[in-house]
Amino acid sequence: MFEHLKEQPADKILALMEAYKGDPRDDKIDLGVGVYKNPEGITPVMRAVKAAEKRIWEEQETKAYTGLAGDPAYADAMISLVLDGAVPRSAVSAVATPGGTGAVRQAFELIRMANPGARVFVSDPTWPNHLTILKYLGIETVAYRYFDSKTGGVDFDGMMEDLKGLKPGDVVLLHGCCHNPTGANLTGPEWDAVIATLNEAGAMPMIDIAYQGFGDGLDVDALATREVASACPETLIAASCSKNFGIYRERTGLLMAISQDSSKQKVAQGNLAYLNRQNYSFPPDHGARLVTLVLNDDKLRADWQSELEDVRLNMLSLREQLASEMQRLTKSDRYGFIAQHRGMFSRLGLSTEIVEALRKDHGIYMVGDSRINIAGLNKETVPVLAKAIVEAGG
Ligand code: LMR
Repeated sequence: MFEHLKEQPADKILALMEAYKGDPRDDKIDLGVGVYKNPEGITPVMRAVKAAEKRIWEEQETKAYTGLAGDPAYADAMISLVLDGAVPRSAVSAVATPGGTGAVRQAFELIRMANPGARVFVSDPTWPNHLTILKYLGIETVAYRYFDSKTGGVDFDGMMEDLKGLKPGDVVLLHGCCHNPTGANLTGPEWDAVIATLNEAGAMPMIDIAYQGFGDGLDVDALATREVASACPETLIAASCSKNFGIYRERTGLLMAISQDSSKQKVAQGNLAYLNRQNYSFPPDHGARLVTLVLNDDKLRADWQSELEDVRLNMLSLREQLASEMQRLTKSDRYGFIAQHRGMFSRLGLSTEIVEALRKDHGIYMVGDSRINIAGLNKETVPVLAKAIVEAGG
C-alpha cells in the first residue's frame, strides 16, 4: 500500500531548522524557527513553570484522563487571560488542544462542519501552516493583501479592498497580535474598520493568538481579540501557550468558540469535544496543568509576568539596535520598520538571492521570505547581521 504514497513537500521552517543543525560553522546564526532564545542562546524553562512542575510532581496523585475538553480550570484560566471578561463566560465554548496548531486545526474542522462552503480569507502572507492545513482539509482559501513590502507596514487599503469580496458565512483569519511572518500589525482604528466590515458582510472572524505578551504586553496584545469577541456575533479564537509560557514541546493550546447568543454555547461545546474525540481523544494535560497553576497562584503568576516582560523587552531592544545599525550602515530609514514591528518576527523584504547569500556566505539562517526571528539575535550578533545584509546588497 505504501508504494502509492507520494513524497510530501518539506515544511520550509522545519527544513531550515535541519539545514542549520547540519551547518558545521561555529559562528552560524539561527533566525529561523519561532522559538525564543535568551542572550545566551538558550530557550529556558521559565522559573514559574519550573516551580509549577515541581509542585505537580509532589502533589499530583493520578494521571487518569481529564475530560474530552481538558480540565475546565485550564479553560477558565486561559479564557480569562485572553478575554479578561470581554464576553460573559457563558458565551464561550472551549477545548484544550495539542498546541496552538491543534486549536487552529480544530477551528478549521469546526468551520467545515458548520458550513462546508465557507471560504477562509487569509492574510498575504500568513503562517505557512495555516495554508497547508486548509488545503489538507479541502477548504477554499482567499488571500487578502496585508503586507506592504515597500514600507514594511500593513497595506491597509489593499486589505479593505480585498475584504469587500466577503460573503455571509465566510471566515477571516486574523493574527491577534505579533503577525507571523511579517511583524506588522493593525492599529486600533484599523481593527475597528475590519470589525465593521466583517459585521456588514456577515463573515466570522477567527483569531490566531500565539504571541500574547511578546508585543506590547499581555493586556495590550489581547485588546484587539477582546474587541472582536465582544463586537462580532460569533468568533473563533485559537490560543497558544507555547511561546508565552515557553512550553513549546508540551503542546498546550486552547480553542474558543464564542457566540453572543448563549443558547448556542452548549451545542458548540459538544461539537468541540466531539472533534477532540475524533482526532486524538483526550487532549494533553501536563502543559495545561502548568499554565493553570501559574495563572491561579499569585506568586507564580507575578514571577511569570515579570520573566515574560524581560523576554519582551529583550526583543524590543534588539529591534531598536538592529534598526539603528541598519540606519547607520545604509544611511537611510529604509529599515526603520524593524523597530515599529512587534513580536518575534520581522519580514525584512530581502530578495531570495540575498537570503540565500546570507546563508551560504555568512551562515545566517532566515526563512526564504526573509522572515527573521528577532530572538535569534543578541547584542553581539546584531551588527554581524546588519553588516552581512548590506554586503549581500540589502
Ligand atoms: C514559527 O512560525 O516558526 C513557529 O510558529 C513554529 C512553527 O511551528 O512553525
